Amino acid sequence: MGKKIFSDWHAASWREKPVNQHPHYENPKDLEKAETTIASFPPLVFAEEIRALKAQLADAARGDAFLLQGGDCAESFTDFSATNIREIFKVFMQMAIVLTYAGRLPVTKVARIAGQFAKPRSAPTEKIGDTILPSYRGDIINSAEFSALAREPDPARMVQAYHQSAATQNLLRAFSTGGYADLHRVNQWNQSFLENNPLRARYEQLANNIQDALAFMEVVGLNSKNTPALHETTLYTSHEALLLHYEEPLVRQDSLTGLLYACSAHMLWIGERTRQLDGAHVEFFRGLQNPVGVKLGPGISADETMRLIDALNPENEAGRLTLIIRMGSDKIQEVLPAIVDKVMNEGRKVVWSCDPMHGNTIKAINGYKTRSFDRILLEIQHFFSILRAENAHPGGIHLEMTGAHVTECTGGAYKLSEEDLHRQYLTQCDPRLNADQVLELAFRVADFVRKI
Ligand code: PEP
Ligand code: CO
Repeated sequence: MGKKIFSDWHAASWREKPVNQHPHYENPKDLEKAETTIASFPPLVFAEEIRALKAQLADAARGDAFLLQGGDCAESFTDFSATNIREIFKVFMQMAIVLTYAGRLPVTKVARIAGQFAKPRSAPTEKIGDTILPSYRGDIINSAEFSALAREPDPARMVQAYHQSAATQNLLRAFSTGGYADLHRVNQWNQSFLENNPLRARYEQLANNIQDALAFMEVVGLNSKNTPALHETTLYTSHEALLLHYEEPLVRQDSLTGLLYACSAHMLWIGERTRQLDGAHVEFFRGLQNPVGVKLGPGISADETMRLIDALNPENEAGRLTLIIRMGSDKIQEVLPAIVDKVMNEGRKVVWSCDPMHGNTIKAINGYKTRSFDRILLEIQHFFSILRAENAHPGGIHLEMTGAHVTECTGGAYKLSEEDLHRQYLTQCDPRLNADQVLELAFRVADFVRKI
């Protein structure tokens, strides 16, 4: 399954298709040089790891696992530090333990990290006063600063993104296996999170139950020393594969199977703005073996969804395709049921995941882009009800979040208001849930997954 190589496909065949959301590089020689340099570098991930993730996603497609995907909207070159990586890793583990316990299902952890640099934009240019400049497209392409020089796309940035991704991946691997992910430790973090939380009473029971479960295992002889599952974890990496000039040189042939993999991350997804059926992004993924996601906004129809599934998963391989639903809390009930109905009737094996962030972005009175905790939660709640009504498995969530204490989304136990947004508004792009909000969200989502 999934091994078919198309005779009309090759890693560069996307270049013959219309390509959206790509920068125009002034100097083709510089671009070629960056591509050749990246092609000479080692892959960032190994094919066997990608296959392991695909097997876990196949479980999520069947209803036997849950996908937790999340991280920054956009990583940045300036905001790059061990502290940030550690904090996001930590919050991932904290959420996963809650969801695993509540859902009685293994949770597959996939971070938006180590490559999440390129951003699609709704307008190609930005105007401030009388000056019009190209839009900022993510640190892998240009710089956010508003000057002509900064906004010039620079292919050398792809090389810098590669190195930052390699260093990030390295630290994540160290945390995963070096003892930092020990479940006893993670549970301690959750206990201290609850100690200070205004909604402590509401969540305490669940945290205590996890504590009891760990204590019980200890008594029967299962501990961190003799049970790797309690001591180690795997955090997979993912990003939107937007900039194909970066992705193509990281396509590698697996020496064990001879098959081709995108080795920039374990899982990649196609964004809402680049999922045209005849476009370069869909073309690029056709011939690769990685698990791939595709974002589906409120404008998609059931027929178009079927055509995307035909293009991206013609062999109906479970684990290959994740449909990431991002319709908005006010549209999901209208649009999603017909899509789920059709896909289920046709017997297509997909992971259904809910991105409750991108359909719920608003502009606050003071101009900040924000999202409310309640709307985010509401979209997830609708998602679960719709999927269950169709006898399908609500297989995952996809969040924009950070381990830091930012003030970018409103609401949550600490009741952040629009007036608070200016205090720590640090995102390079879209507003993220902060560490408290996202862990609170995990406790709330635990209530829904429990009903499986
Ligand atoms: C994103 O995930 O940051 C993003 C741009 O999403 P979408 O393609 O769904 O708008
Ligand atoms: Co975003």
